Amino acid sequence: MSDLESSLQAALRGESHVVGICGSAGSGKSRLCYEFAERCRRIHIPVIEVRAQPYGKAAPIQPILEVVRLLLGISSGDDPTTARSQVADCLEKLGSPPENALPILCDFLGVAESGPVPAMTPKMRHAALLDIISWLVGGHASNPYVIVMEDLHWLDDASETFLETFWDSIVGSYALMIVNYRPTYQAPWTDREGFHLLELKDLDGVQIDEFISSVIGSHQIWQTYAVESPTGQEATRSLPKRSFIL
Ligand SMILES: Nc1ncnc2c1ncn2[C@@H]1O[C@H](COP(=O)(O)OP(=O)(O)OP(=O)(O)O)[C@@H](O)[C@H]1O
Ligand SMILES: [Mg+2]
Repeated sequence: MSDLESSLQAALRGESHVVGICGSAGSGKSRLCYEFAERCRRIHIPVIEVRAQPYGKAAPIQPILEVVRLLLGISSGDDPTTARSQVADCLEKLGSPPENALPILCDFLGVAESGPVPAMTPKMRHAALLDIISWLVGGHASNPYVIVMEDLHWLDDASETFLETFWDSIVGSYALMIVNYRPTYQAPWTDREGFHLLELKDLDGVQIDEFISSVIGSHQIWQTYAVESPTGQEATRSLPKRSFIL
């Protein structure tokens, strides 16, 4: 947590970076992000949280769409007219949007009017969209905020491209981006400047014993269950949260 606090302090000085939290399943990545997000909200720093889904490769771009919606202040349930007007308001507030930002964003979000959209090849449109999203992320980053993207091990290839765009607009700004993933994910950007790796190591035997004793005391039967079975280890970790009474 103290590493994340330091990263936040850097972002508040306008020297933000991207933090990658890497750890195996159940190592506490989500819990750490959740607790950190709560701390940020308590001090009125907005937090945008999205996660890649296990079926992410079959439904590409969803996490990116969600970030863009949250930045624009709309939700997937908004009707197209309301969403378009909110997008227009947001662009106006940020000021000087790139050319065709409104129709291209509305098209990306699936709320476009049936009227004419700018004539562009798919490649040109994609390049324009990346520019617009970069402008949008960077425009918000003149004030502190935090983007948390979870479970990148499930991220689809198309979203990776957008992630790099977020990265370029965020590093060195007032916005902090925190991503998390399991070690199986081959992150393509770990060598990039502005990346901080935070590894959550699995506990060794002694640490597990200490942790379990502190949570459930010395009842032998629970100790055996908690140490020897993975479900027992996870159940033990969740005891304080679920307020189990033994
Ligand atoms: N420091 C902690 N103190 C108490 N409980 C914890 C702590 N860290 C994690 N837990 C609990 O352990 C369980 C697993 O943690 P979590 O969901 O954060 O793992 P994860 O690394 O995100 O796993 P996955 O890769 O499957 O998403 C959760 O019930 C969580 O609340
Ligand atoms: Mg998780």
